[in-house]
Amino acid sequence: VYVDWDVQTAEKAGYDHFMLKEIHEQPKAYRDTMGARINESDSRVILDEVRLTAEQLRRIQHIQIVACGTAYHAGLVGRQVMEQMVRVPTTVEVASEYRYRNPIINEHTLVIVVSQSGETADTLAALREAKRQGARVIAITNVVGSSAAREADDCIITWAGPEIAVASTKAYTTQLIVFYLLGMHFAQLMGTMDRSSIVEILKHMRQLPEQVQALLDQSERVRATAERLAEHEHLFYIGRGLDYAAAQEGSLKLKEISYIHSEAYAAGEMKHGTLALIEQGTPVIALATQTEVMEKTISNIIEVRARGAYVIGIAAQGNEELEKSVDEVFYIPRTLDLLTPALAIVPLQLLAYYAALARGNDVDKPRNLAKSVTVE
Ligand code: G6P
Repeated sequence: VYVDWDVQTAEKAGYDHFMLKEIHEQPKAYRDTMGARINESDSRVILDEVRLTAEQLRRIQHIQIVACGTAYHAGLVGRQVMEQMVRVPTTVEVASEYRYRNPIINEHTLVIVVSQSGETADTLAALREAKRQGARVIAITNVVGSSAAREADDCIITWAGPEIAVASTKAYTTQLIVFYLLGMHFAQLMGTMDRSSIVEILKHMRQLPEQVQALLDQSERVRATAERLAEHEHLFYIGRGLDYAAAQEGSLKLKEISYIHSEAYAAGEMKHGTLALIEQGTPVIALATQTEVMEKTISNIIEVRARGAYVIGIAAQGNEELEKSVDEVFYIPRTLDLLTPALAIVPLQLLAYYAALARGNDVDKPRNLAKSVTVE
């Protein structure tokens, strides 16, 4: 669709770019996506759009999450959510690879495709192949009536609202929200989680919109750091577990719009080769929010710092331990480890945005990229 300049300016609602507007819309997008799916007393998830019965679910032996780009990164979080909450082995794969390796798909397979647009060619091809081979398919998409929404057996809409910027932000975070809800919905059906754990998670999910707002209110500090990073040509993101998942999405955001080369690495894997690339002053963004692997992550931070890296830490509020081992730190509000990616990604989105802005790039329409890729 052709949209003229004046209409676009109006639609940006006072923001310089759609991307910044969409980043700031996340508190609302979280609320809308949770909405009526969490019952009043915070004690149950209601996901009527998924019609899979408890009996059908019990026959599922594996879950395959298939998606492209940012949606794939949401799937990385989804895998952990599914395995932890539902205890069913889960894999996640980029759609352009999935179909061509003759994956094992049968009536015991549940395929979850994730697609903001619901029109990505590779994702749709995977969806069709999975159905052809007898899998049950759930689509997570932002577009009501999209091909993915129509063709899947069940469809869960992310109520992020229209996303215009090529670099996906609120679609990603609402995909995370949907994975949490879906995990708990399945857990309710299968009895794989205690009532009290569900209540606890829902209580924390309700706090996410305000916590995202608190992060957005600190944009100026992120901007200052981004402007310094914008002078570099290479940087690294490291983390373990869900921090590694968020690191991959943070790194993609930066590449897409700032054109700075970056790589996300599992923090413990750096020493098996990539550590050789660390020089005096190489920026490393280290996510260290996951309590179980905190000590390990900190030792990986010390490893890169000993080789000269300039380390920017992302940590949960109150983690003063990390402060001693990094050059600067951004704190994110306290939440459950499992929910942390829904917060940790926000400063990384802002970092990418302000770095791209500092480089004078076209933030909303980065070179070579399209919002929706309808060719394979
Ligand atoms: C394009 C966009 C990405 C997006 C990917 C998948 O490459 O530029 O931002 O993550 O497609 O899109 P989808 O609509 O399937 O989520």
